[in-house]
Amino acid sequence: MDDAAEMYKILSNDDAMRYWSSPPHRELAQTQAWIADMVAATAKGSEDFIIEVDGRVAGKVGAYRLPEFGYILHPDFWGRGLATEAVSAFLCHVYETRPDIVVLSTDIDPRNTASVRLVEKLGFRETGRAERTFETHIGWCNSIYFAIDRAGMARFGGSSV
Ligand SMILES: CC(C)(COP(=O)(O)OP(=O)(O)OC[C@H]1O[C@@H](n2cnc3c(N)ncnc32)[C@H](O)[C@@H]1OP(=O)(O)O)[C@@H](O)C(=O)NCCC(=O)NCCS
Repeated sequence: MDDAAEMYKILSNDDAMRYWSSPPHRELAQTQAWIADMVAATAKGSEDFIIEVDGRVAGKVGAYRLPEFGYILHPDFWGRGLATEAVSAFLCHVYETRPDIVVLSTDIDPRNTASVRLVEKLGFRETGRAERTFETHIGWCNSIYFAIDRAGMARFGGSSV
């Protein structure tokens, strides 16, 4: 819960939240409730991490409701390979400690080119597309669905990360 104020700076940022499945937070209490849900979630159903860079909260990676996972960084940290590093570490962690998780999936708006590039280069495979899947503060969004199985995660296991 100590990370709520720093995460609020990210979840209230319009650029960071453009393709998120819900609108930017406008009150700290929203972020506090968001983190409280993660803290309360059982380890069986979720696996979430705060990303810190040099002691500063930079974002989060993980799955609040497995097998769907997601990630977000404050724009101050974009373009430095940090999402690549964080998601790779997450895949390594899942592969090595959670044999019950056989697949991870994510749903990305096709306009979110950074996120699409990120998962494609990490070996996620496209499993489908759909239009007008969710309506947020920017209007209707479309989805490309991506997934990675344990064979895909295995690339990140052990000393390769
Ligand atoms: C998606 C996000 C996490 C990427 O973070 P990042 O740390 O900047 O990503 P990386 O630096 O690891 O780059 C990953 C790849 O995307 C590419 N990339 C990054 N920003 C890009 C952009 N704006 N346009 C096109 N490609 C981009 C990088 O070049 C890299 O590919 P490469 O290795 O072939 O060069 C970040 O933009 C973000 O937090 N966005 C808002 C939240 C969000 O949309 N989350 C996903 C919801 S589905």
